[in-house]
Amino acid sequence: MTQSGRTDERQGGSGELEQEHQILVGLIGELAESMERRRPAVTIGLVDRIAGTTAAHFANEEVFMRRSSYEQLTPHLEEHRSLLLRIDELRGVLRVGEQERAVPMARDLVSSLSSHISSTDRVAVERAAAAAASA
Ligand SMILES: [Fe+2]
Repeated sequence: MTQSGRTDERQGGSGELEQEHQILVGLIGELAESMERRRPAVTIGLVDRIAGTTAAHFANEEVFMRRSSYEQLTPHLEEHRSLLLRIDELRGVLRVGEQERAVPMARDLVSSLSSHISSTDRVAVERAAAAAASA
């Protein structure tokens, strides 16, 4: 702990983000399975949950990165916006029952979200936490 206690607060933030990552990874896995088993009602419910969970997680992550003066914030925010738009597009396609269109969109989204969480976010959160610790 630093004299101000500020570093601990920031490190706690990265721990919470990691927990959120794990929750999202679980939901993404469930989505992949529901698509594979062709369960549209389950898929719609999961995409709705993923939309809310992802939006909340990205907002938390962005606060953490801003506080940590993360140098790659702008491209990271652009990637978040793009992923959120793709989730909304998939929700729209599922709501009108276009399963043929939804399947490849969901596969691509599962891949992109998994990649973002497991590599881009992990590196970003580690760098932001390191920057915060040295500030
Ligand atoms: Fe992110």
